[in-house]
Amino acid sequence: MTRIRERIVLVGPGRAGCSLARGLTRAGHELIATVGGSPENRGAVAAALGQVPAVTHAEALAAGTLVIVAVPDDRLESVSLDIARGTPQSSLTLVMHVCGAKGRHVLHPIASRGAKTAAWHPLRSLPVRDLGPAGLEGALVAIECEAEDLRRLESLARAVRGRPASLDGGRRDTYHAGAATAGNAILAVFDVGLRALVHSGIPEALAREALANLAIGAITNASKIGPAAALTGPVVRGDRETVARHLAALRQDLGLADAELYAKLSAALVRIAALRPDADKAASVVDLLKKVDPT
Ligand SMILES: NC(=O)c1ccc[n+]([C@@H]2O[C@H](COP(=O)([O-])OP(=O)(O)OC[C@H]3O[C@@H](n4cnc5c(N)ncnc54)[C@H](OP(=O)(O)O)[C@@H]3O)[C@@H](O)[C@H]2O)c1
Repeated sequence: MTRIRERIVLVGPGRAGCSLARGLTRAGHELIATVGGSPENRGAVAAALGQVPAVTHAEALAAGTLVIVAVPDDRLESVSLDIARGTPQSSLTLVMHVCGAKGRHVLHPIASRGAKTAAWHPLRSLPVRDLGPAGLEGALVAIECEAEDLRRLESLARAVRGRPASLDGGRRDTYHAGAATAGNAILAVFDVGLRALVHSGIPEALAREALANLAIGAITNASKIGPAAALTGPVVRGDRETVARHLAALRQDLGLADAELYAKLSAALVRIAALRPDADKAASVVDLLKKVDPT
């Protein structure tokens, strides 16, 4: 298949949009226009993308082969209506949004104008307007689209060094909840660990780095051999005495809520450990995890 050199219109020149547009131009695609963005951010956009002409929402469909919509999630519906006031350049005109929480259907006003639509979500934090040469290096790009457009969208993901995968639109909420659990909720776990170490007298800066090393090691192991095989610690060893002392110490020094979180996470570890040949050891601590609050 001949690779399409996309002529890109970027709607929403913020962190995600500029990062992707810059990554795609580095890979040989062409950015021909932007839509939107406040006057106070013009300098930052120009620093990331150079001087690029501005067009209106209604002009976007006629201007490019690929329209990337990277506006805040709560603007997607209204921006889709604004873009749908225009006419697609051809039946190959493709509009994709980069939001993880919403599916391709949010672009239906544009699809009804005869353009192709897709949701193309990079599973990576994009904190600034340029990814740098490493691009999305290894990040999953979850793609929801018509089957006939998949190769084109996969090729865009590979152009910025991402790893494309097809996402069933009906499972999007589950996908996004998984991403939020591993990417966001993990910080609640880290926070308990950090407060416990600081309470025990370890300087905070050292505690942060040490816990990050510990957590990265555990996650790296889990990514290679799976969570069940990577498990270590008192729960998987069935060390009842240590688990009971942890619960008492957290309850006393950090508070009941943190002790309860430890108990809930430990119960989840017992469920993971059920896949191991020594599952009975972890199962032996279950009763301790049910009576965290002695009152
Ligand atoms: N950043 C990330 O880590 C990340 C990762 C993956 C996916 N995403 C997705 O990327 C999308 C954008 O997020 P972001 O973090 O890049 O937000 P952002 O930095 O706030 O950028 C949003 C951009 O949209 C512009 N905008 C607002 N209303 C608009 C409208 N009606 N028409 C045209 N442009 C408009 C904003 O302009 P002004 O701010 O100048 O007014 C800004 O340039 C979201 O769907 C988000 O879920 C973000």
